[in-house]
Amino acid sequence: MNYIENKVYFITGASGGIGKATAVTLLESGGKVFDFSRRRKLTDTVTHDNLRSFQGDVTSEADVAAGFAACVAVFGTVDVLVNNAGIGLLTTDLSETDLETYEKMVNVNMKGVFLCNREALRIMKPRQQGHIISVISMGGQRTNANAPVYCASKFGARGLSSGLADQAIRLGIKVTDVNPGPTDSDYWGDRKVPREKFLKTEDVARVIRFVLNQPPEVLIREINFDNIKFLAG
Ligand SMILES: NC(=O)c1ccc[n+]([C@@H]2O[C@H](COP(=O)([O-])OP(=O)(O)OC[C@H]3O[C@@H](n4cnc5c(N)ncnc54)[C@H](OP(=O)(O)O)[C@@H]3O)[C@@H](O)[C@H]2O)c1
Repeated sequence: MNYIENKVYFITGASGGIGKATAVTLLESGGKVFDFSRRRKLTDTVTHDNLRSFQGDVTSEADVAAGFAACVAVFGTVDVLVNNAGIGLLTTDLSETDLETYEKMVNVNMKGVFLCNREALRIMKPRQQGHIISVISMGGQRTNANAPVYCASKFGARGLSSGLADQAIRLGIKVTDVNPGPTDSDYWGDRKVPREKFLKTEDVARVIRFVLNQPPEVLIREINFDNIKFLAG
């Protein structure tokens, strides 16, 4: 059974990395994808009849409202929101961390998720159906010394998602957290990291597809996963 096809997927940050891999797998399964990304457009690198791109910033209330309205205008609704846009900046020494770095991460990783959740719920509530997936991180489950602010933003996003799940269940709306460990993407920039021990973006996309390809009554609330080589050290 294919529960993916013909549904409308609003994916933030689908221009690259995990979002792009997810968009491609959902398109291949017959889904309709609306990419909402800040600087690049998925349509610049992928061509498909069921794909549209919109340039917007998840931290802007106006951009988010305009993006959801554009998706409804093109595809008629939003069945699934994938909160994927996110940034990770190093904060190896908190005493040297400036407020701008803190605010950037909290704004994209928490406020952006709040704004997109709210807009999606306004479409999903009257229909009494929908699915909100947040790509949080294992950084929202375990902290590390290199990125306490990133972890704080992801713990915050996890709290928002958990409370929303409690609310949304009564409305027939599913909420799922997808928590990958380190994944090889542009997220890492030119940092020297052991990419050979990281998950691939396609691994994360496969997990998201699995979560989505369940019968309507089956809710996967949270899914944690890593590359075993990374955990082995
Ligand atoms: N990579 C990892 O190790 C890892 C592990 C666990 C969880 N995650 C999470 O997975 C998600 C995706 O990460 P990734 O590895 O795929 O990173 P990535 O390759 O850097 O891609 C990030 C995407 O988010 C978009 N984006 C960033 N800020 C945005 C904003 N303000 N508004 C709209 N779009 C914005 C980017 O768009 P433009 O570049 O076009 O602006 C890009 O499409 C993030 O939430 C990240 O925290 C990553």
